[in-house]
Amino acid sequence: MPAVLDRLSALADLTRSRLLLVLERDALTVGELCRVLRLPQSTVSRHLKLLSDEGWITARAEGTSNRYRAALKDLDPGARQLWQLVSGEIAEAPAARQDATRLRSVLAERSTRSRDFFATSAGQWDRLRSELFGARAELAALPALLDDDWAVGDLGCGTGQVAASLAPFVGQVLAVDASAPMLTAARKRLAPFRNVEIRRGELEALPLDDASLDAAVLSLALHLAPEPARVLAEAARVLRPGGRLLIVDMMPHDRTDFIDSMGHLWPGFDAETLTSWGGEAGFASCTYHPLVADPAAKGPTLFAAVLRRATTSPTTRTEAQP
Ligand SMILES: C[S@@+](CC[C@H](N)C(=O)[O-])C[C@H]1O[C@@H](n2cnc3c(N)ncnc32)[C@H](O)[C@@H]1O
Repeated sequence: MPAVLDRLSALADLTRSRLLLVLERDALTVGELCRVLRLPQSTVSRHLKLLSDEGWITARAEGTSNRYRAALKDLDPGARQLWQLVSGEIAEAPAARQDATRLRSVLAERSTRSRDFFATSAGQWDRLRSELFGARAELAALPALLDDDWAVGDLGCGTGQVAASLAPFVGQVLAVDASAPMLTAARKRLAPFRNVEIRRGELEALPLDDASLDAAVLSLALHLAPEPARVLAEAARVLRPGGRLLIVDMMPHDRTDFIDSMGHLWPGFDAETLTSWGGEAGFASCTYHPLVADPAAKGPTLFAAVLRRATTSPTTRTEAQP
């Protein structure tokens, strides 16, 4: 027997077709369907079971109840065509028109419930948000603001944390570091990303072509460089005109113990110093933002400085002057 004939019986009942029509528009619980169709729960549940057994709908557990949705995309082409024909006719029936009106009010009630919830829980939302999604969940999503075809450098990549945060959102990440053990850890972390290339090299002589990056990050590495101005000049060389360098490092601090314990060469950087070195290196501007410290953090306050590479080369600019 052609499979489509098996499908006829499920749709031959007006209640089942009305249910399917409503569930094609939105996913609803049994309680909501009872209110939309104005039918008792036992009737709605019986028809839902048949529709579910025959693959017309699927259910997803939500708290103590199930939310049902039409599964038309998963059906065979014959069944989909049959439903197109039946739904076109049923949608004009008075009962189905009333269902559509009541569906709108049930959906409106849902958004009223969520508004009521937030109206009374404004004071608790920050705690609830942290519990549900972590303290700064939105930060992981912010690299999605970058252009997805960008090539971005992670300069002094260490174990690859910055590269791993960027890789899902940009075209390519080039991660550079001088330390073989750090690069071994980075290779392990970054193995899942096919768009990350790891290169061993010095910040003062990057293994990258001129103007090959759209943006670059120097995270917690500049304070280890004997000549930070040279590192900035090298970053400017590998950035395209207009490209951006993000420096994340420590604001000026007095933790002299870091010199012995971690080989720090610079006790943080202020905005004036970075602006001056950046200007000499070919960066047209430098903006400096102290970062909000994590309450659990024990180290000095960090800053984020963005240096924008000049759109014309330093030589051209000099020549243009009278
Ligand atoms: C403190 S770690 C920071 C790593 C990473 N960027 C992060 O945010 O976690 C500094 C890294 O910079 C690298 N580094 C320091 N000076 C360097 C230089 N002159 N050339 C290349 N890498 C350097 C070190 O090997 C180390 O992996």
